[in-house]
Amino acid sequence: MSLPLKQQPAWKALEEHYQKVRALHLRTLFAEDPTRGERFTLEAAGIYFDYSKNRLTTETLHLLQQLAEVVGLRQRIDAMFRGEKINSTERRAVLHIALRAPKDQVIIVDGENVVPEVHAVLDKMSIFADRVRSGEWKGFSGKRIRNVVNIGIGGSDLGPSMAYDALKHYSDRAITFRFVSNVDGTDFVEATRDLDPEETLCIVSSKTFTTLETLTNARSARDWCVRALGSEEAVARHFVAVSTNEQEVAKFGIDTTNMFGFWDWVGGRYSYDSAIGLSLMIAIGPERFREMLAGFHEMDEHFRTAPFERNLPVLLGLIGVWYNNFFGAETVAILPYDQYLERLCAYLQQLDMESNGKHVDLEGRVVDYQTGPIIWGQPGTNGQHAFFQLIHQGTKLIPSDFIGFNKSLNPLGRHHDLLMASFFAQTEALAFGKTEEEVIADGVADFQVPHRTFEGNHPTNTILADQLTPEVLGKLVALYEHKVFVQGTIWNINSFDQWGVELGKVLANRIIPELESTQEAILQHDSSTNALIRRYRQARRQE
Ligand code: F6P
Repeated sequence: MSLPLKQQPAWKALEEHYQKVRALHLRTLFAEDPTRGERFTLEAAGIYFDYSKNRLTTETLHLLQQLAEVVGLRQRIDAMFRGEKINSTERRAVLHIALRAPKDQVIIVDGENVVPEVHAVLDKMSIFADRVRSGEWKGFSGKRIRNVVNIGIGGSDLGPSMAYDALKHYSDRAITFRFVSNVDGTDFVEATRDLDPEETLCIVSSKTFTTLETLTNARSARDWCVRALGSEEAVARHFVAVSTNEQEVAKFGIDTTNMFGFWDWVGGRYSYDSAIGLSLMIAIGPERFREMLAGFHEMDEHFRTAPFERNLPVLLGLIGVWYNNFFGAETVAILPYDQYLERLCAYLQQLDMESNGKHVDLEGRVVDYQTGPIIWGQPGTNGQHAFFQLIHQGTKLIPSDFIGFNKSLNPLGRHHDLLMASFFAQTEALAFGKTEEEVIADGVADFQVPHRTFEGNHPTNTILADQLTPEVLGKLVALYEHKVFVQGTIWNINSFDQWGVELGKVLANRIIPELESTQEAILQHDSSTNALIRRYRQARRQE
């Protein structure tokens, strides 16, 4: 980008335009254009996107698209798909799109086509998943595998666990799946409490295979397994690894023939459609897994080829920038109206916040504008009875994404109609509210009128798909991956590194020996940290 973002004429035009639009009410926008609810929509890759209940006009969209053009979004999309090393601080390509590329596609990294390798790993995963699912893969004592425990954290946990929950409907119910991530021993103990080690397969998932939490849990799992089965040899039948680091996998004691690889051009939070999704593949089977990849790919192709004004991830991203940088909104609520998507928000938190939680631009300059928003939320209708009050009547502007499906996977009496009635009602209420006159006309007592008046004008996106299938999940995740990319490009930041999580890790490594030492350690932290550590050590000595 030639000029800094805020000096771009397109940015300045948006600032000016904001002054004209900021006070506009959605009630007015809808009244002035009776076709708005159909015009401001887009259907792509089988997903219906209604962005009409946003505080914007045709001109806003035009200016936002202009901004996308001048910051070089098109070129950046092409660079990503070509396998250029756009993760500049780590000098890596960013190619999660290659994980779902069809066999005949060619994507070159360092002179080599990576697509055949991707398919070789997928084939290896498929064979293994089928062996576990059919009972052919036996535990050390000859029993079939009835439990699968994925051990990983961050991208090596959130993706597979979110997707397992999302696609539980399609999973093999004869196998129990657990996900252990936290270094808090409670996580491992509770996850394995009712499992028989003889029937349990542990998948140690870690891109680096050096992550403290994962290796600590993996060691405890190995002890648990060896203790029960009475032999170190059991490890080969009960442990497989997913990693890019063959050396560390071997060092841990897992036979590397039972390792499923991936590559440094797959970011952790972009990895669940790589071998990191092995537990998911065992759950839903290789065929369904490939349907999910096809869904990802369809959205990738839409993103790569559609003009910006008809491009779902581009529009979603630009609308987010509009609120984040011009209205000053700090957060985005993710509200899936589907119980299977219970973990979607946790997954998107890492995807978005680890990607775009950056304060310097690609040239290393501190930015003078806001970058990534805070992502939060939970499924409807539960959220309605918890935090929706603040969205409706609080003092903060909270743009929200409502995600719903036409058909339920569990049709049960009136449930789905009731769920979807709330889904539609909430975006309607948020947009249009209830005026003082309407409240008075309802005969509400005077003293209650201000309390029962809804200002409205709260923006929402509605994302509607037919049914939650593996394919649709792939499309949804790809949609958000690319939305994050669009915003990172506008903000001129690197969405693919995560240096911010390093300092905490380094400091924890310094403190570990101080907590474990039997000698009185000389503490050289600040006075608060010193006092806390001393207090903790004292309490531990009294145990
Ligand atoms: O929290 C930092 C992080 O590096 C994430 O980006 C990543 O998903 C997670 O740790 C786990 O890393 P690994 O897969 O290497 O164990």
